[in-house]
Amino acid sequence: METNNSREIFKTRLGFLLIAAGCAVGIGNVWRFPYIVGQYGGAYFVLLYIFFLLAVGIPLLTVELALGRASRSSIARCYENLEEKGALWHHNKWWQFSGNYILMAFYVVVAGWFLYYFLAFAGGDIPKQINRDDAGANFGALLGEPDTMFYCVLATVAISFAIVALGVVKGVERFTKPLMVILTLLLLFMAVRSCTLDGFSEGVSFYLSPDFSELEDNLGEAIWAAMGQAFFTLSVGFGAIAIFGSYMSNRHRILNEAIFIASFDTIVALLSGFVIFPACFTYGINPDAGPNLLFITMAVVFSNMSFGNFWGAMFFLFMLIAALSTMIAVFENMIAGCMELFKWTRVKAVVINFFFVIALSLLPMLGFNVLSFVHIIGSNTGILDFFDFLVSNNILPIGSVVFVLFVCAKNGMRWERFIEECNIGQGFTMPKALLFYFKYILTTLIVVVLAVGYFKIFGRA
Ligand code: PHE
Repeated sequence: METNNSREIFKTRLGFLLIAAGCAVGIGNVWRFPYIVGQYGGAYFVLLYIFFLLAVGIPLLTVELALGRASRSSIARCYENLEEKGALWHHNKWWQFSGNYILMAFYVVVAGWFLYYFLAFAGGDIPKQINRDDAGANFGALLGEPDTMFYCVLATVAISFAIVALGVVKGVERFTKPLMVILTLLLLFMAVRSCTLDGFSEGVSFYLSPDFSELEDNLGEAIWAAMGQAFFTLSVGFGAIAIFGSYMSNRHRILNEAIFIASFDTIVALLSGFVIFPACFTYGINPDAGPNLLFITMAVVFSNMSFGNFWGAMFFLFMLIAALSTMIAVFENMIAGCMELFKWTRVKAVVINFFFVIALSLLPMLGFNVLSFVHIIGSNTGILDFFDFLVSNNILPIGSVVFVLFVCAKNGMRWERFIEECNIGQGFTMPKALLFYFKYILTTLIVVVLAVGYFKIFGRA
């Protein structure tokens, strides 16, 4: 096995945990989760999601962390470092690695919207007591202005790459740790405040008491969406978590760290719902608005609230930090990957990737205006949704199946070695007997749910 002695290792365990959690916590928790819960009727979707988190999410986190730590490299080299001579697993790295770029192409656009709304609330530019139509018109105007979006995207991408350019310990660890602490404090502050709103109990009951009559109409689709959400929110499938496994120390067992990351991620997602749903019910707004939920619904909510500019700015700052922590993590994966693949220096990799990501982001950005005639999957979805579909419902689940098969395969990492790697250090033991579950049940579950999803989407189109 090739080892890399000069590889940086995180200074502290907390640093590692917060960064891996920072990679997981992102728009998936604060934007995607609440709107999907709203769309699929609330609480019973939350139950489905929790099922996938336990059955699929945590096992997949252990797989990625073990791959990273055992190979001490990114997705660019982890297959090569672990597979048997002559095996072909490593060809998968290309399409999996490309997932980082497709994800970031649209992710940075959403982060740019957060920055825009943060600045708009902080600067008092959102008028008081707007209604849904006004808020929709404001958001529509932003989507129609590629230059405003471009500047916002440029700013978020530049900040994140500047941090990554400083290195793993001096950049990523030093900046992400305090960002995650601020994020947690902001969220707690807003969740406590949410309890004082008139619509609190109505919002929470929509959110947390399952209405099983909804199950009859769209169960297949809800299951598929819940699984896609579990992959997306935990960042598993293309090495974004594995890279942090590669910088992790040998002191703690992998299952412990996986449970921490999944729990932190879920708490942030659930609490985001506590902030959003009571606010919607307080101002009489239906929370099933879809992807625009935050930008239209929440703008109405804050503009009608006392001290709305303050709460609006806090809320969008929280969203922005969640997005930035993920961008920093995924950019680190891209940079480490390019350094290993092409032997570039960190600075060279940062510069090239910066321009590349900006160029790619133009596609989803222009999809709302100049390229709005482009509809790839269904008539009311644009380029951004298509990129999201490619990543969440294709690259992440299929990539995860490949990772699982790789750790089980005799010419791959091999199950015994995977178990050994998981059980280095202190903490919960990963049982060897889980081979059957990983190899057959886990993979079949993912493939079946994927197939049902395709059938739903393309069968309907
Ligand atoms: N988990 C991130 C979020 O919730 C998104 C992500 C997906 C990041 C896949 C990396 C890999 O926003």
